[in-house]
Amino acid sequence: MDIIERAAANRGWIDETWRKITKKMPISVEQARKLDTIPYTARDGAWSNPHGISWWTNGFYPALMWQMAIGTGDALYREEAARAEALLDEALRRFEELHHDLGFQYKISAAVNWALTKNPASLRRALLAANLLAGRYNPNGFIVAWNENRPGWSIIDSMMNLPLLYWASRQTGDPRYRLIAERHADHTLRNFFRDDGSVHHIVIFDPETDAVIETPRGQGFAPGSTWTRGQAWAIYGFALSHIWTGRPEYLAAARRAADRFLERLSGDNLPDIDFDQPNEPCAKDNCAGAIAACGLIELAKLAPDSADRYFDAAISLLKAMDERAIDWSPGEPGLLSQCAGSYSERDSWNMKMIYGDYFFIEAILKLRGSRTQLWLI
Ligand code: GLY
Repeated sequence: MDIIERAAANRGWIDETWRKITKKMPISVEQARKLDTIPYTARDGAWSNPHGISWWTNGFYPALMWQMAIGTGDALYREEAARAEALLDEALRRFEELHHDLGFQYKISAAVNWALTKNPASLRRALLAANLLAGRYNPNGFIVAWNENRPGWSIIDSMMNLPLLYWASRQTGDPRYRLIAERHADHTLRNFFRDDGSVHHIVIFDPETDAVIETPRGQGFAPGSTWTRGQAWAIYGFALSHIWTGRPEYLAAARRAADRFLERLSGDNLPDIDFDQPNEPCAKDNCAGAIAACGLIELAKLAPDSADRYFDAAISLLKAMDERAIDWSPGEPGLLSQCAGSYSERDSWNMKMIYGDYFFIEAILKLRGSRTQLWLI
């Protein structure tokens, strides 16, 4: 059964949600055009981004514009995607501020533009980004996270950056990028999973010997706890590595991560920031739910024995967001609210974040049967 057939029982809700997205999006674009940078968070009727042009989320706004262009056929969104992508050239010029998140920044913006329009400047951007990401590889088997004297740090989030490397090998015919991506995925598989299927956010290795030194809490609640967004990155990241490589162990890893995510998800279907955080104060991260929903929809295609379970869980997550966490008010930019940067930073709670909107819309387009997948083209 394909996704369109599986989604049939929810067709009315999916179509209505897409209608509301298309009604709301023009205000997001209008407000984004008033910025001299790329939107990150929205509040009081305006977007802002205090982090600068090298910030890890800056590929999501152009990617969102591509999703809207694909979903509506409206040239306005294509032009807006290209405008925002060009702003990212400044980050490539100041390359020392970039780190492991080059896939988030350039795969779903520049590489997508190249795939859809054959714009040569976009190809150059995406290949340069792939080379910078490949240059972070430690031959012990992992891509180094962040800069500033952290040569042994690896993080679960980097699984989502691997599509840039798989794409670069397909584009150039040179297997080195794909081999680095597979070595990193293998190293993550060996070192990040706990026996119960949960994952560490960060593992610090000795950069010479590869010995594990520490597994700090990262953006989660405590060392040893389960940061929900990290668990979601594991679901979708391993599913994408499976799709790019065909390797069954990556699908098995994505399923383990998904099964644990669903075992621990609270009854309201709106994920906490960390599955192990105290009940009070209430602190949600709906970005984790949107990312997980995208991964679960892929798993529903890849795992026929559990397709209903994964698909129904994705629908429940998305409906909970629609009913209780999306800001559908017409004058406000930004859709998904109650997202969080990090458990330990209280001022990063209860935010709208651009990648929440991105993954929510990606999930709705998947349910509408869109075949253009930005992580794969
Ligand atoms: N990749 C960074 C984060 O999820 O916050």
